[in-house]
Amino acid sequence: MSELDYEIGGRRLLSAMDLSVGAGESVAVMGPSGSGKSTLLSLVLGLIRPLSGQILVAGKDITALRGSKLNRWRQQHIGMVFQFGELLPELTPVENVALPALLAKGNRSQAFKRAEELLLSLGVPVGTTTTGDLSGGERQRTAVARALMSHPSLLLADEPTGALDEQARDQVADVLFNVPRQNGCGLLVVTHDALVAERADRVLQLSHGKLVDAVSQGMV
Ligand SMILES: Nc1ncnc2c1ncn2[C@@H]1O[C@H](COP(=O)(O)OP(=O)(O)OP(=O)(O)O)[C@@H](O)[C@H]1O
Ligand SMILES: [Mg+2]
Repeated sequence: MSELDYEIGGRRLLSAMDLSVGAGESVAVMGPSGSGKSTLLSLVLGLIRPLSGQILVAGKDITALRGSKLNRWRQQHIGMVFQFGELLPELTPVENVALPALLAKGNRSQAFKRAEELLLSLGVPVGTTTTGDLSGGERQRTAVARALMSHPSLLLADEPTGALDEQARDQVADVLFNVPRQNGCGLLVVTHDALVAERADRVLQLSHGKLVDAVSQGMV
C-alpha cells in the first residue's frame, strides 16, 4: 500500500502510510491499543476504504474494486486468521477448513482432501473430534489451515496468539512463520507479543498513523 490516509470519527488514524509485504516475506506490526492495527488489516481486506492512497493485493488496486469483484479478489488472494479463530465449534476441524471452498461451490471431495492434508501438515488431529473440543493452540492452527485453503498470496493475522498460553503460542507462531517459507505467500501479523513479532523478517511499529522500523527505534 502506498500513501494511505484513513480517518474515523474525524480522527486521522493512518497518514500517508506506506507498506509492502513481498512474496515469502513476513512482517509484524506492533503498536498501542487503538493505534489502528486492526483497521489497517480491514483496509487490506477491502472491508473499509481509505480516504486516499493505493492498496495493491496480488498486483491489483483493491480500492478500485467493488461488490462481487472485490469479494472474489479477497477470496482468491487473501487468507485471514483472527484472534479467536472464528471457527464453528460444532463442526470437525476438517469441516471448518473445507467450509469456505464448499460455500464457493468447489469440488467437495477435493476440498475435504486438501483440508485434511493442511491440518495434518499443521499438526492438528483430524478425527471426529469437534473443533470446540480442540485445545486453543489446535484451534488456532485450524484457523491457519482454513486461511491457507485458497492458496492465498497474502496471509493476514490479527493477534493470532493473543488468547493462547506460552506453549500454544510458540506452536502457532511456528506454523504461521513457516507459511511464507513453505508457500511463498506474504505474511502480515499484528501482535502485542514481542516474542512473536521478533520472528518476522521485519518488525514495524504503528505510531501516529505511520509505520516505523521497530528495531531501529529500540522497541523490540
Ligand atoms: N466505527 C468507528 N467509529 C469511531 N471510531 C472507531 C470506529 N472503529 C474504530 N474506531 C477507533 O479507531 C481506533 C483504531 O482501532 P483499531 O481497532 O484499529 O485499533 P488496534 O490498534 O487494532 O487496537 P487493539 O490493539 O486494541 O486491537 C480506535 O481508537 C477505535 O476506537
Ligand atoms: Mg486490534
